[in-house]
Amino acid sequence: MLVTDLIAKKRDGAILSQEEIEFFVSGYTKNEIPDYQASAFLMACFLRGLTPKETSFLTGAMVRSGEVLNLSSVPGIKADKHSTGGVGDGISLALAPLVAACGVPVPMISGRALGHTGGTLDKLESIPGFRTDLSKDQFIKQLKEIGICMIGQTLSIAPADKKIYALRDVTSTVESISLISASIMSKKIAEGTDVLILDVKTGSGAFMKDKKSAKALAKAMLDIGRRARKKMAALITDMNQPLGKMIGNALEIEQTIELLKGEENRLTRDFVELTDVLGGWMLCLGGKAKTSNEGRAKIRSARQDGSGLAKFKEMIQAQGGDVSVCDHPQKILPQARVKKAVLSPWKGYVNVLEAKSLGLSALLLGAGRQTKESAIDFSAGIILHKKIGDTVERGEMIAELLTTTHESSLKIAEEKFLSGLKVSKVKPKPVRLIHDILRT
Ligand code: URA
Repeated sequence: MLVTDLIAKKRDGAILSQEEIEFFVSGYTKNEIPDYQASAFLMACFLRGLTPKETSFLTGAMVRSGEVLNLSSVPGIKADKHSTGGVGDGISLALAPLVAACGVPVPMISGRALGHTGGTLDKLESIPGFRTDLSKDQFIKQLKEIGICMIGQTLSIAPADKKIYALRDVTSTVESISLISASIMSKKIAEGTDVLILDVKTGSGAFMKDKKSAKALAKAMLDIGRRARKKMAALITDMNQPLGKMIGNALEIEQTIELLKGEENRLTRDFVELTDVLGGWMLCLGGKAKTSNEGRAKIRSARQDGSGLAKFKEMIQAQGGDVSVCDHPQKILPQARVKKAVLSPWKGYVNVLEAKSLGLSALLLGAGRQTKESAIDFSAGIILHKKIGDTVERGEMIAELLTTTHESSLKIAEEKFLSGLKVSKVKPKPVRLIHDILRT
């Protein structure tokens, strides 16, 4: 088989066979196909699209490029959740311990910050000592012992995806429904979970800007999951404004601890609601609730009775982190050296609080990586004091910008923040958080 023939075939819109897709994936993973040919092939896939069958072949080939974890020694139905990426989306941090506290084991393999979106691994690593680089055996042992483990993609899990994703990131081939769904699902199938709940984001801060493409992405992932016999549900949720009130690594850990202590307020209501709904589905498909509503009530109890917090502490302890973070978050977590208030230039109702601009503002403050090599400032980020629909006076504080390492970027971070803010005279319609729920 010749790579040039495969590139030409896809370029001309033909459908590839399983053998041809395997040939590409295995050749590229083994460095037998160079980056320039792989880039041309991926661009042809991006422009021509892949059929559901081709997407499923691509997923299978990426799964087989590495190890598939066998979690059968861990008792119970295992459930995981994956978000397609957002701003202030630290849901997994609270959700995983809540679900584990309700008796469903959670094997979670998470990612790092990508562009303007945050990453669960970076957030966890802001807890001093917390390790996300556990081996496969440590991962399984911890799951058996405490029912929860949150780690990063190891070299052995879907290595083809790791390599292809890095190439897509620098060749403008990320935003393809087929390529995203194969990438996410290959990792989730290799991780060995039985149940997977997808949180597919739509809006300015998401990869899928409109509901139609978010739904198409959800359907593509559900289709792959169905072929791999995974029990799945997908929620299409809003990412036009950030979730909750914190954007940034240590800040989102602080917010997680607050929520696990049962505290909630107007600014974190959306965060709490989504945590409960996603958790409800995980418990329902994980066999610990008859309906997602019953599951939702159990998650709420675990938030209010402290059992979710106790599970979070167990996980921190097991992964080498400083457990006292739960009692004294501000003493243990990195604190920003510099803070700046963002004042509203207008009086009225907050109408737009664009997630992407706020995510980029946090990135400029050091909360994300501007290059692959950048070190993250765990203390950096944004504390929101207003959300869409709130009233605001001219000169009133709308948010605080925090940084330790990027003081010189405060001004452009503030400009970026303000570019995403609109204040209107008329009260905007309430934001709809959950647009749709799809099932396998
Ligand atoms: N997240 C992934 O893991 N892969 C993609 O392609 C996009 C988001």
